Amino acid sequence: MKIKRIGLLTSGGDCPGMNACIRSIVRTAIFRGLEVCGIFKGYQGLIEGQVKCLKRRSVSNILSYGGTILKTARSSEFKSLSGQKRAKSVIEENGLDGLIVIGGDGSFRGAHLLWRRWKFPVIGVPATIDNDINGTDSTIGTDTAVNTALYAIDKIRDTATSLERIFVIEVMGRETGYIALQVGLAGGAEDIIISERRYNIDKMSADIRAGYKKGKISWIIVVAEGAACAADVAGRITRKTGFETRVTVLGHIQRGGSPSADDRVLATRLGAKAVEFLIAGQADKMVGVVNNRIKAVDLSYAIKKKKVDTETLYKLIRILAL
Ligand code: ADP
Ligand code: F6P
Repeated sequence: MKIKRIGLLTSGGDCPGMNACIRSIVRTAIFRGLEVCGIFKGYQGLIEGQVKCLKRRSVSNILSYGGTILKTARSSEFKSLSGQKRAKSVIEENGLDGLIVIGGDGSFRGAHLLWRRWKFPVIGVPATIDNDINGTDSTIGTDTAVNTALYAIDKIRDTATSLERIFVIEVMGRETGYIALQVGLAGGAEDIIISERRYNIDKMSADIRAGYKKGKISWIIVVAEGAACAADVAGRITRKTGFETRVTVLGHIQRGGSPSADDRVLATRLGAKAVEFLIAGQADKMVGVVNNRIKAVDLSYAIKKKKVDTETLYKLIRILAL
């Protein structure tokens, strides 16, 4: 089937670089003679028919902005068959021949269903600060989020050193420790807590006490939000060591802000390729980047849990902290 008109939506958690990706998709599609319909507020907007035609000028000056001009949403309605049927009707009413979904694994699960149920051509573009999508080395937003968290941790380090304090810093990552590992390494954290590995507060506290005897007087522990509660960790460490402990929860600042150059480049390359995939008749795929080459990855593979070697980097963090 010749693709003439495509839909585009952002879904799930927003991240820096989504706008750069939207711009790339819209302008590549128009360059290739396609019409592009922006769907506002993710799958919920699709169900509600929030569809608007996008032109080249609709995406002017958005490259450097965080968030998404198309807005995003979490839609429980789309998880049901009736919601998916309503979304499919809106797709038909608007004459869409294909859909590009910019989002994370949840959004890809939804996209995969549109293909499985109705053989409707969908292409996913991986965008999440968590970098937890199978079949791609990186996802849009990760580089910016890691740099935002690192910038904050560098500042906290100043106080930790000057006042000789222990800081427990919570970063994002409900199911993955990617950000914690990266900033742990780049920010010289003494330890990290991530859901991929067990942790032991008694051992951590003993390390802190031993370090203190050797003259190590400040300590930064980075905690991934899904692995433990930073306040609990801090409380337990204070009780076991007797040292003053402070807590900082970085939260959603990590998901906002202007995308880094790497994220803009990634978003631009993946967005353009997503359009090319649809034109070439690809469906039920994600555009992934592996060893700097863009490839088509089955959505069914992309949504499987990503296996990563966290041990090598964790050991390095600990060796360098001693
Ligand atoms: P992300 O895409 O960032 O992982 P979510 O997990 O919140 O974010 O998923 C975004 C949206 O994708 C959900 O709100 C829902 O509408 C849709 N979705 C997620 N999982 C499924 C599923 N199993 N079936 C159908 N739709 C889903
Ligand atoms: O988008 C990914 C992410 O930021 C995770 O790291 C985090 O756990 C989750 O989303 C938080 O989502 P929200 O606060 O929007 O529910």
